[in-house]
Amino acid sequence: MILGFTIFTFLFDDKVRAFRRYIHMKVNIFHISAVSPNEIFRLVLDVTKSVKAVKLKQKKCVIFADKNNCKRKMRIDIITVLPELIEPFTQESILGRAQKKGLAEIHVHNLRDYTTDKHRRVDDYPFGGAAGMLIQCQPLDACIAALKAERDYDEIIFTAPDGEKFDQPMANELSLKENIIIICGHYKGIDYRIREHLITREISIGDYVLTGGELAAAVMADSIVRVIPGVIGDVESALSDSFQDNLLEPPVYTRPAQYHPMDNPEETWSVPEILLSGHEAKIKEWEYEQALARTKALRPDLLDKQL
Ligand code: ADE
Repeated sequence: MILGFTIFTFLFDDKVRAFRRYIHMKVNIFHISAVSPNEIFRLVLDVTKSVKAVKLKQKKCVIFADKNNCKRKMRIDIITVLPELIEPFTQESILGRAQKKGLAEIHVHNLRDYTTDKHRRVDDYPFGGAAGMLIQCQPLDACIAALKAERDYDEIIFTAPDGEKFDQPMANELSLKENIIIICGHYKGIDYRIREHLITREISIGDYVLTGGELAAAVMADSIVRVIPGVIGDVESALSDSFQDNLLEPPVYTRPAQYHPMDNPEETWSVPEILLSGHEAKIKEWEYEQALARTKALRPDLLDKQL
């Protein structure tokens, strides 16, 4: 039987530390301590030989950072003028859990702590008479320099509506980084010289304009951290999310198998029989067909992106 797999190409862009990973297949998890792309390829081949055959459409091989081998902890520094807005979010839910488990560290920095202005101002009028205010170079430069003095950063990200569009592959890719900075834009934006000289990546979470970058930073941090291995209890769960394989999720149901709605108790809402059959292979097949049908109906554009 054919056994193939898809490896996200971002893996091979990173240097040695990025190759210390484990392979997470839909059916199994494999630990890898390889240090070169060749070794990774060899190990992937060894591993796939030993895995029981799965149907072509079910196999997906995703490579993530290895929390056990590398004791890896991802660090995200968020720079904002509204720390009170984003700080509570970083302490709750997935982000809070990841930090408690020692898999991530999220630090929120108040940009005003870095200004030399005695009134703690960080913004000023734009040259040329355009409307609105801009965050000045000085506090951003000072904050970034202070962080860079402590450690190396893989990316310095600016949240901007005119940036590249954030999506699941980008979240996966960023989850492999060790240290990243996310700068939340505010007012009419930031002095362009910071974008030219210090920012390595500009990211938008969608074609609409938010009042500030805090919500965008929260969205990014959440989706990046949740795919770090070990963050979500059920390791399968993050991998079966919609968009991981450019397919929407199939419908999901929980108990009871028969439900009588309140406004018409005579009526019965039933869970599809196949899910109660216990036949794992047939269930997988059904889930795949449903996922495909939902994707065709709701997001046909994703099918063009199939790997
Ligand atoms: N700041 C304002 N709007 C934004 C968007 N759509 N994405 C990221 N940052 C933003």
